[in-house]
Amino acid sequence: MNDASFLERLVHVPLGERSYDILIGPGVIGRAGGEISTRIKGRKAAIVTDENVADIYLENMVESLESDGIATTSLILPAGEKTKSFEPLMTVCDALLEARIERNDMVIALGGGVIGDLTGFAAGIVRRGVRFVQAPTSLLSQVDSSVGGKTGINARQGKNLVGIFNQPDLVLADTDVLDTLSPREFRAGYAEVAKYGLIDKPDFFAWLEANWREIFAGGPARIEAIAASCQAKADVVAADERENGRRALLNLGHTFGHALESATGYDSRRLVHGEGVAIGMVLAYQFSARMNLSSPDDAIRVAAHLSEVGLPTSMTDIEGGLPPTDILMDAIAQDKKVKSGKLTFILTHGIGQSFVADDVPVAEVLSFLEEKRRR
Ligand SMILES: NC(=O)c1ccc[n+]([C@@H]2O[C@H](COP(=O)([O-])OP(=O)(O)OC[C@H]3O[C@@H](n4cnc5c(N)ncnc54)[C@H](O)[C@@H]3O)[C@@H](O)[C@H]2O)c1
Ligand SMILES: [Zn+2]
Repeated sequence: MNDASFLERLVHVPLGERSYDILIGPGVIGRAGGEISTRIKGRKAAIVTDENVADIYLENMVESLESDGIATTSLILPAGEKTKSFEPLMTVCDALLEARIERNDMVIALGGGVIGDLTGFAAGIVRRGVRFVQAPTSLLSQVDSSVGGKTGINARQGKNLVGIFNQPDLVLADTDVLDTLSPREFRAGYAEVAKYGLIDKPDFFAWLEANWREIFAGGPARIEAIAASCQAKADVVAADERENGRRALLNLGHTFGHALESATGYDSRRLVHGEGVAIGMVLAYQFSARMNLSSPDDAIRVAAHLSEVGLPTSMTDIEGGLPPTDILMDAIAQDKKVKSGKLTFILTHGIGQSFVADDVPVAEVLSFLEEKRRR
């Protein structure tokens, strides 16, 4: 038995009656039944997962729940971003109603951000809301999507356009399961970990520079990095649950990143979200230097670290070419962080000194992108 529970970390998200705990550590899925029983009264659970995760972890979770007297049903969906759409949402709602999940029972999302976003949405609308547990299994979902309560699906018109805020009742982040994640997906999640340092935690960024190898290898540094990331996001969410202000800082690197994802047709063979964010963060630092807001050395330091872990850091790292700059610019303007015609970016005064900049001149962004796409 993997009894490393002394390594476990608990992050509390204080949101009044919507408060919840995030439990982070090795072997948490194998103890899910006990962890859930002590916090949630329900005796029936519907587990929603994807085929990749089900193959490796579903049985382990079912056994743990059943041995603690929680009856389970499971729904296994295809893996991939396409599952975050209307038809699978109907499938999930249908399965929850068929399984007679009532308001005091629970729905468990076992998987990455796709399963978490979809399942959280379904749990929020079936019977006007049933209990919801996140068991995130990708690094990205452990440090980002499972924290903060944003849930939803993609629409024909764009990503994440249909959804609700729905805070989970509990998050169970098993840090061992990251061993089976592909190295590329692990790196992509790591971009979001580095993001928390770059937003407002310069010491954390320096710690990542020194310890990233141990985080990738597993063990205490990994747990520490995930807990620090959850705490960072929890702090921001507690201060601004519905993104009226400070929560926007979490979008560091995301305006450029989303534009690149859109420009590559959301084709994960070319670019996954975290890779877009890595390039986007470097661009945000480079653009800040160009606007004389920060030192060019900071941009160099950010790029050096992300590149060291194996992330792309430049638009020229994307294979297959990009559309013309004005199309990239359209994608930026369509990003939801545009308010009354002005471009809003997260820019920076240095490592860990990010801020929300309204009123960024479109012409500057255009000529910057024109230059950066060439080298
Ligand atoms: N709600 C939010 O606040 C928020 C924040 C960031 C991202 N997101 C969303 O999250 C989604 C991306 O999440 P993701 O990167 O986890 O993608 P994902 O859910 O598609 O998972 C990535 C891949 O890894 C596989 N996988 C997951 N865990 C595994 C494990 N332990 N072992 C082996 N394989 C495993 C999955 O089957 C999938 O193929 C996007 O839809 C994005 O919009 C939401
Ligand atoms: Zn992101």
